[in-house]
Amino acid sequence: MKAKLTLDKSKVISQIDDRLYGSFIEHLGRAVYGGIYQPGHKTADDMGFRQDVMELVKKLGVPIVRYPGGNFVSGYNWEDGTGPKEKRPKKLELAWGTVETNQVGIDEFQEWAKRAGTDIMMAVNLGTRGADEARQLVEYCNLDTDTYYANKRRENGFEKPFGIKLWCLGNEMDGPWQICHLTAREYARKACETAKLMKWTDPSIELVACGSSHKNMPTFGEWERTVLRECYEHIDYISLHNYYGNPTNDTPGYLAQAVNMDEFIKTVAAICDEVKAEKKSDKTINLSFDEWNVWFHSNEQDKQIPRWSYAPRQLEDIYNFEDALVVGTLLITLINNSDRVKIACLAQLVNVIAPIMTEDEGCRLQTIFYPFMHASLYGRGKAICAAVECGCYDGGGLKNVPYVTAAAVENDDGGVTVFAVNRSLEESAELDTAGFEGLKLVSHTVLDCDDMKAVNSLADPEHVVPAELSVNGATALPAHSWNVLRFKK
Ligand code: AHR
Repeated sequence: MKAKLTLDKSKVISQIDDRLYGSFIEHLGRAVYGGIYQPGHKTADDMGFRQDVMELVKKLGVPIVRYPGGNFVSGYNWEDGTGPKEKRPKKLELAWGTVETNQVGIDEFQEWAKRAGTDIMMAVNLGTRGADEARQLVEYCNLDTDTYYANKRRENGFEKPFGIKLWCLGNEMDGPWQICHLTAREYARKACETAKLMKWTDPSIELVACGSSHKNMPTFGEWERTVLRECYEHIDYISLHNYYGNPTNDTPGYLAQAVNMDEFIKTVAAICDEVKAEKKSDKTINLSFDEWNVWFHSNEQDKQIPRWSYAPRQLEDIYNFEDALVVGTLLITLINNSDRVKIACLAQLVNVIAPIMTEDEGCRLQTIFYPFMHASLYGRGKAICAAVECGCYDGGGLKNVPYVTAAAVENDDGGVTVFAVNRSLEESAELDTAGFEGLKLVSHTVLDCDDMKAVNSLADPEHVVPAELSVNGATALPAHSWNVLRFKK
């Protein structure tokens, strides 16, 4: 198969916001307890944080981590996770049916984030709580004043404010599964008043309002319109969430799912602009795709988890090779929409639907670790237009899905990195590069495997790993492969 990739450096999509390569840690399963935090572990530091996990988080270069949920946040009292550990309450956690010990809270997590070299995207509880607790949390985290909550932080041993700049106004409040789910009108009012109080407390923060929990929600569209009309002046971003899966084992259809993500993004951006026009506003609301990933492998096994377990193995999807290709296509879609998507979070980071898995003996890198790492390391700079001409197929309910999908980023050193997935299961794609004059291909990294279902297991942890291809001669994207092509001046 032939695929023509045309680079037009004059067509800049956008300067990419580094936060496009964010991730997520929720108080769920073994993400926190037994994931980032395991006192007594052989690699634990003075605060109980696993150094082996932290090294891998650094390797991914994650610029921002959403915390503490997720569904968890809608029943969470943030004060429970502050102050002396021995006084912290052990509570029933209703979102996931577990027990929360509160041994990690914002006091510890902000320290973990500092040590891991990342920023926090903090969510407030708009389920069981509201504006009052949210503004108190902003004061606790960000203010230097001689006032009650800022002084509480000092009493707890943190003289300097944490300086958290990005905040989520609740989580998936459109979903009936959410603790204290709200209608669009109810959420819009609650979010608007909470946003006002949070920004009055600290005007330097940015706020993300909840959009739809996925593209097929019955309220999708109307939810966004209602929230935007009410909150427009007080928010900066609206969120999108979507998980993808292959429950019917239809690999071509599964590999096509990024087309759905693309449509979802473009629709939400259009709704933002519709409301902008209605309001005759100069302000543009951008998008925060703050939960995206593959999630379906663990659905059945999770039904067996006994209620009120502590840190159970929950949402522990074991990712195979085709999942890594899908993650690659989703990353390409985010880069190509970086004019509107400024923040995105791979959900999640450790153990729970995650690229990093832990055992007492050490960590394992899942297949999806690699495309995410490549995009985070080499996808910084300016997204530029990379047009692909190639054959198409119909699959997954979608028509004319191109076999080859690609994104190009002009890096700060003037080089260009191309990310490309060849979705064809049979044919490699011979690449004809136009518009690359003055650029030399210096490396071609590929993630490829004969077995679409291959995983990195405990017994064989390096079954699916990237390899370097020769850069002499014609460039071809192998059948079913993730490719990183680095061009230098
Ligand atoms: O990431 C897992 C869960 O998925 C989150 O808690 C929730 O927001 C979403 O439904």
